[in-house]
Formats: sequence, C-alpha cells, structure tokens
Amino acid sequence: MLGEKNNASAFAEQTVYINRLIEKLPEVYEGTPKACVITFGCQQNVSDSEHLKGMLACMGYEITEDEKDADFIIFNTCAVRGHAEDRVYGNIGKVKQLKKDNPRLIAAVCGCMAQQQIVADKIKKSYPYIDMVFGTQVFHRLPEFIYKRITGSGRIFELSLENEKIVEDVPVKRDGTFKGWLPIMYGCNNFCTYCIVPYVRGRERSREPEKILAEAREMVNAGYKEITLLGQNVNSYGKGCEHGITFAKLLRMINDIEGDFRIKFMTSHPKDCTIELLDTIKECEKISHHLHLPFQSGSSRILKRMNRYYDREAYLRLIKEAKERIPDVSLTSDIIVGFPGETYEDFKETLSLVQEVEFSSLFTFIFSPRNGTPAETMPDPITREEKGKWFDELLRLQEKIAEKNIQKYVGKTYRVLCDEIVSDGVLSGHTNGTATIIFEGDEKLLGEFVNVKVVSATNSLNGVIV
Ligand code: SAH
Ligand code: SF4
Ligand code: F3S
Repeated sequence: MLGEKNNASAFAEQTVYINRLIEKLPEVYEGTPKACVITFGCQQNVSDSEHLKGMLACMGYEITEDEKDADFIIFNTCAVRGHAEDRVYGNIGKVKQLKKDNPRLIAAVCGCMAQQQIVADKIKKSYPYIDMVFGTQVFHRLPEFIYKRITGSGRIFELSLENEKIVEDVPVKRDGTFKGWLPIMYGCNNFCTYCIVPYVRGRERSREPEKILAEAREMVNAGYKEITLLGQNVNSYGKGCEHGITFAKLLRMINDIEGDFRIKFMTSHPKDCTIELLDTIKECEKISHHLHLPFQSGSSRILKRMNRYYDREAYLRLIKEAKERIPDVSLTSDIIVGFPGETYEDFKETLSLVQEVEFSSLFTFIFSPRNGTPAETMPDPITREEKGKWFDELLRLQEKIAEKNIQKYVGKTYRVLCDEIVSDGVLSGHTNGTATIIFEGDEKLLGEFVNVKVVSATNSLNGVIV
C-alpha cells in the first residue's frame, strides 16, 4: 500500500526546472552562482540540508560556506526549543545587509520552524527581504521555487503537509566522505506532550526497504565506513506497511551488505525498543554497540504526563536486558528538566536513574514551551532559575559518572574509525560505542579503521596505534 502511495517520481517534475536553471543562472549571475546552506537542529535537518545542497549543485550552484559570498542563501531551521528559534531570527535578520551588498541575493527559510503558519506569517510581515518560506514536506521543490522567483514571481510561501508522500531520488551532496546519514523514515506519530516535531514533520512514513538498501549499497561502494540510519523513532520502522519488515530485520539486511563498515541509528523510542532489536545488535557484527535511548524523565508520574508510554520500571528493565546482551553497550539519552508540574521529588528520580544506568553521555534540556503542544498550557510553577539549579545538579552528577567511567578504557584496545585531525600528526577517532580516543597518526588514516590501545585517561582518552 505504502509503495503505491509513495510518489517515487515526484522529483522528476523538478528536473524540468533544474534544466531551465542550468541555462538561466549563468545569464543572471554572469558566471557560476554560489549557494550557502545554513543548518540548525537535528541530524534529520542535516540530512535534508545535504539534499538541498545536492539539488543546488545540480542546478549549477557552487556550494560555499561563506554567506557573504552567496547568491542564494537558505536557512534550514529547527523549532524544537525556543532557543533554536531565537537563533534563527537573529540569523535571518542579517540578510538585510547581505542584500545591500549583493542585490541579486535570493534568501530562503525552510525546515521545521518555517513549517509553522505563525512563523511564516511573521516572516511575511516583518522580514520582507526573505524571498521564500517553505515547509518540511515540499523542500524537494526548491528548483521550482528558485526558478519562479528568478523569473519574476512574487515572494513564495508554501507550507503544505501532504503526509503520505515520500519523495525519492532527490539528489544528495553529503558533507562527509566516510560518515553519512541515511534517512529511513520521516515524521512522528507519538505526540509527546512537550514536542513540536509531529506538528512540523507530519505523520510517520517509512521508506521502502529496497530504496534504503540500494542507498546503503551505494554508500558502501563510495567508501562510506559508517552509515547512520535516521528517524524520529526508528524502532517503529515499517509500521503500517505491507512488507512486514521490522527495524531489526532492516538492520540485518543492511548488515548483510558486503564491506567493512559500521551501522549506527537514531533515535530509539524506549516504548518500541524490542528484545529482537537488542539481539540483532548483539548478533550483527557491523552494528555499533550504541543505543541512544531517550528517557526524558525518571519519574513515572511525569512520563505519563509527557505521553511517553513507558514508566521508570519498564525503562530500567530494558536497560538491564540491553546490558546483559551487549555488555560493552554505550548508552546515551535525552533528558528534559523542569517539565510542567515536575517537583524536586520527581527530578530526584531522574538523578537516581542517571546514577543507576551510568550513561556514556547525556543531552539535557530545560523544558521549553512550544506553540500548540499540550504542555504549553500545563501549569508550570517552578521558576526558570530553579530549573537552572536542577539542571546544573544533573550536569555535575553526569560529570562525576563520566570521570569514573573513563578509567575503564585504560589498557584496552579498540577498533577505531579515524575521524579528525586534532593537530599536526595527531588524530581522533571513535570506538564501536561512543568513546573518542586521541592518538598519533598520519592524516592518510582519516576514514580508516585502526586498532588503538588506550594508555591514559585524563580529560580525554589517549592511545597509541597497535
Ligand atoms: N524523536 C526523538 C527526539 C527528538 S527531539 C525522541 O523521541 O527521542 C530531541 C530532544 O529534544 C528530545 O528527546 C527532548 O529531550 C528534547 N525536547 C523536545 N521538545 C522539547 C521541549 N519542548 N523542551 C525541551 N526539550 C525538548
Ligand atoms: Fe517528539 Fe516524542 Fe516524536 Fe520524539 S517521539 S519526535 S520526542 S513526539
Ligand atoms: Fe528540530 Fe525539526 Fe529536528 S524541530 S530537532 S530540526 S525534526
């Protein structure tokens, strides 16, 4: 059923605009125009931006990191917390001056924040120099929007959410050459009461397994050594599809692709994390021993108000199962501090859960009310200042845990993917979990696996290639 609904040829319409732009842009810009893509938010947005860059490159734009150099600038935005939105307004304000310096500049705002009508209206009214605003489900129509604007159309505002469509075959220009994102699904159906994502990304839709496998194979052939599968809740992959392929099965199919590479994935919602998935991680040699399993709060009372569909006990049971099956598993999590109605007693349950599980790292956020979500109107008597104190307490606890656990690595040897040059002759790389190790090595090793023995643990893990 989904296969029919997914409109795999929707991008074909855009190739007409791309071909026209290939001719038109050099006339308008007297040479090769440049485009700058500025990304906010999560990996899903980073991946979308790679597709924006892919389309721009096909149209004939050279991609630049320098906004002052750009003839087209696009802000791919995030709405998950108020702070993310404030940053975007600060950034798009700069376009006024950029346009003074380059009158041919075209400016666009897209992504999760742009998807909200209230934001689009504000930009329409208060930011007249933004040429186009479009939402998360029409971003593949970028060629059409640019063509229309360049040939005299008025400002463009396009926010439709059609939900059932996945547009395949959008060109992609990946930022990395050996680590890459691979979206397997879009949207979210969970409606956690604090979260804006289901409203701005629409309903959950899974890509066809064949499409995912073909892209994974292409990436492996192109030399990618780490592929991260993306979705807001990867554990519900395939739900409602006739093919019956679960996320665990999909992982096994990707694991069967020949080649030396690692598979990662995010995010796993605890309510849908199955024993089948844990066994799959254990049994498939290419899957990283890392589970990002956001628990949000250690208090069952708050979890209920968050609409998370698991309680503290169920989460801890799941962690126990994971640790039993995969003894070297790296666990990471997201936590919200100061959800409306949360008391210090509830927060202490978050602290004790963190103490008990010993996560490798945490992503912690102070609750931020989001427009139109149920939590926005829940009574919230605790002051921001008080929440800040709780937040600091959580950070201090996690620091202590990390300090203790870092020593466990010393003396052991790990297979590491070389990620970055730290300084001349010094590289950093990461293990099959989430640990980063620093060691001496030639830059030619970037993107290669090497075995590194950890010799000391200070603020970082330091090792030598063996
Ligand atoms: N789909 C993922 C999370 C996506 S958003 C999941 O369910 O785990 C990333 C994180 O942002 C969330 O896990 C949550 O911790 C945080 N977050 C989302 N909405 C928030 C809000 N209104 N205030 C504070 N943090 C929020
Ligand atoms: Fe937001 Fe919850 Fe969906 Fe994650 S699962 S994106 S937190 S609604
Ligand atoms: Fe932000 Fe959208 Fe991701 S709201 S966190 S960019 S899905």
